[in-house]
Amino acid sequence: MDILAIIDKKRLGQVLSDKEIKYAFMGYLNGDIKDYQMSSLLMAIVIKGFNFKETLALTDLMLKSGKFLTKKDIKGIRVDKHSTGGVGDKTSMIIGPILASLGLKMGKLSGKGLGFTGGTIDKLDSIPGFKTSLSIKEFIKTLDKVGFAECAQTDEFTPLDKVIYSLRSVTGTVESIPLIASSIMSKKLALGASYILIDLKLGSGALIKTREDANKLSNLMKKIGKAYGVKVIVEITDMNTPLGDNIGNALEVIEAYDILNGKKGNLYELCVNLSAKLYKEAKNVSMKEAKNKVKEVIDNKKALNKFLEFIKSQGGNYNKIKISNNIKEVRSLKSGYIKEIDAKKIGVLSLHLGAGRINKEDNIDYSVGVVLSKHKGDYVKKGDILCQLYQKNDKNYAIEARNAFKIN
Ligand code: URA
Repeated sequence: MDILAIIDKKRLGQVLSDKEIKYAFMGYLNGDIKDYQMSSLLMAIVIKGFNFKETLALTDLMLKSGKFLTKKDIKGIRVDKHSTGGVGDKTSMIIGPILASLGLKMGKLSGKGLGFTGGTIDKLDSIPGFKTSLSIKEFIKTLDKVGFAECAQTDEFTPLDKVIYSLRSVTGTVESIPLIASSIMSKKLALGASYILIDLKLGSGALIKTREDANKLSNLMKKIGKAYGVKVIVEITDMNTPLGDNIGNALEVIEAYDILNGKKGNLYELCVNLSAKLYKEAKNVSMKEAKNKVKEVIDNKKALNKFLEFIKSQGGNYNKIKISNNIKEVRSLKSGYIKEIDAKKIGVLSLHLGAGRINKEDNIDYSVGVVLSKHKGDYVKKGDILCQLYQKNDKNYAIEARNAFKIN
């Protein structure tokens, strides 16, 4: 078999066999296929697509490229949740502690930032001491003890997704329905959850921009779940506006704390809703009862304490998180109502501030980002602060920041 023939076949829109997919992807994992060859194949897949059989073959390869957990490894009701990627999306860090404090087990494999969208692993890496690379033994121990554990793809867990994910992030090959589905579903299947909730983000700041594509991705992930006998619940939610106020790694961990401490807004509402959806499925109760339970553990701070316990159990120290003290205020040049805060523009701004990667080997700066001071629908007067930029340098990003706000 030869990689050039496989790339050519996909470039011409033909269907690849299981053997060809295995040859290319496992060859990349073991170093026989080079970055430039895999980038080219990925781009051909982005453009020409993968049918269901090809997508399932890739999911299975990713899943079986490492070890995976089964019912026997984890006691209790196992649930999992994943977002397809957005701007300011720190929901996993909030939902995990909520569900763990309600007695469920949420073990989660996550990824780093992809393109302009942030990744939970980068956010957790901003906590000094926090270990995002866990052995299976450590993972099971934390999950058993705390009820919530979260780590990155490793050489043990979905190593094939790990290498493909980081290549996609820097080669413009993120926005592909079959590649997103196989990446997410392999990570979810590897941890053996009985109920999987996918928060499918739709809008300017998401990887999925149209309702039609959202429905396609939703159906595909459900179909993959069905092939493995796992129930997949999909919620399609808005990502035209950033989620919450803070965008940037350490800033987002701080906002997760604030939400669990009772801060209200679009992020709080979404987290309550998604947590309740999973609780309802897992415990077979009504949505009303599930929401009450979720709100109760936020109000009585059980979920907040669980969040701190989770950080500590993976070696982190919340009190040592650092954010930049070089803060620039961006003020409005006119008065009016905020019609829109463009999530993609804020995501790209945060990337330019240093919170994400442009090249595969880039080091990101955990302490930088954007804090929104106003929300969609707010009235602003000329001179009011729209947002604050946490920077490491003294570059002027005011124009880029103002461009994200549509004021009429
Ligand atoms: N999240 C993932 O884990 N993978 C993708 O491809 C996109 C979002």
